[in-house]
Amino acid sequence: MFADLRARAREVLEPAHWDYFEGGAGDERTLRANEEAFERLRLVPRVLRSTGPRYLGTTLFGTGLRTPILVAPTAFHRLAHPDGELATARGAAAAGTVYVVSMAATTPVEAIAAVAGPWWLQLYPQPDRDFTAALVRRAEAAGCGALVVTADSPVFGRRERDHRNAFHDLPPGLCCENLRDATGAVRDIVMDAGLGWAGIDWLRGVTGLPIVLKGVLHPADAELAVEHGVSGLIVSNHGGRQLDGAVATADALPAVAKAVGGRLPVLVDGGIRRGADVLAALALGADAVLVGRPVLWGLAAGGADGVRLVLDSLSEDLDRVLALAGFRTPAEVTPDAVATR
Ligand code: FNR
Ligand code: LAC
Repeated sequence: MFADLRARAREVLEPAHWDYFEGGAGDERTLRANEEAFERLRLVPRVLRSTGPRYLGTTLFGTGLRTPILVAPTAFHRLAHPDGELATARGAAAAGTVYVVSMAATTPVEAIAAVAGPWWLQLYPQPDRDFTAALVRRAEAAGCGALVVTADSPVFGRRERDHRNAFHDLPPGLCCENLRDATGAVRDIVMDAGLGWAGIDWLRGVTGLPIVLKGVLHPADAELAVEHGVSGLIVSNHGGRQLDGAVATADALPAVAKAVGGRLPVLVDGGIRRGADVLAALALGADAVLVGRPVLWGLAAGGADGVRLVLDSLSEDLDRVLALAGFRTPAEVTPDAVATR
C-alpha cells in the first residue's frame, strides 16, 4: 500500500538516515518476522451480517479517537523533515489519533503540544530521577495524556547499519530537545539497565497520568504489569531494533492478551502495514495498534500531509476490511476472524 511513499522517502533521505529509520538490530530477523507474521495470518470472514456503515471510533484512557491506529514513538523527526515532530503532530491530529512523542524528539514537548491533538510522551526513565520527574512535570503541564515507558531497552540494540554508516550523532543544529536540563545543556539519553519494576512503582508515585508499558512480549510480564498498577500494555519488540531474534509481535500477542484478560487495554506494534494487519491484531486480542516506520515514510515524503495520508489510508483500509470480514466496529472483531493454523 505504501510502496511509492516508501520509495519517495528513500529518495529524499540521506542514506545513513534512511538506514537509521528503516533498520533493525543484528541480522534483522525480528524486523522481518514482524511483517511476515502478519502476512502469514489468514482471515475468515463472516457473510450477510448486514454490517451497514462502520465506526472506527475508539476510547483509550478516556480520550476518544477516530481510529484504533496510533502513531508509535520514533526518534529524530527533524532528520526526516524540516518540520519534524510538529508535522507529525499536525498529521496525527488531522487523522484524529494519538501521537506518542518519543523522548528522543528533536522538538520540545511544549511546542509539539501547541499543535497536537491528543498526545502521549514515551519515556526512558533516566537514572537521574529528579531530571525524569521534571520532564514528567513539563509533559503534564503541556497536556500530555499518558506516559509510555519503554521497557525493552536496558541497553541499546546492536544496529549494524548505523555502525557501518558511522551514524552516532545528530547533525549540528539538532538535538534531543527534551533532554535539556535546567542550565539548558542537553544530556545524552541513558538506557537504565537498573530500572526494574521499582522504577515503575517510582513513576506511579510521581504522576497521576496513566502509565503504559511498552515492549512486553512474555505473558508473565503482562501479569506483573497488572500487579504493578500500569494502565495499559504495548506488545512490542521495538520494531526489531532491540533484541534480534525476539518473537514477532503478532505471535506474542495472543498469550499476552490472554494473561491480561481484559483488565487493561492491550496495544501492539511492529509490522502493521495494512488494514488486514489491524483486523488480525484486533482478532488476536489487541484493543488498538501503533505504526512506526510508515509514519516516517509519510513524514519524509510529505510532512504533515504525508503523515495524515498514511494514517487515513490505513484507517480507510481497515474500514473496508472490517466490512469485508463482516464487522462494523473494532470492538466487534472476534478471535475466529483469524484462521487457526
Ligand atoms: C523506534 N521505536 C522507538 N520506540 C520507543 O519507545 N522510543 C523511541 O524513541 C523509538 N525510536 C524509534 C526510532 C525509529 C526510527 C523506529 C523505526 C522505531 C520503536 C517504535 O515505537 C515501534 O515500536 C516500532 O517502530 C513499531 O514497528 P514498525 O511499525 O516500525 O514496524
Ligand atoms: C531507537 C531508539 C531511539 O529505536 O529508541 O532508535
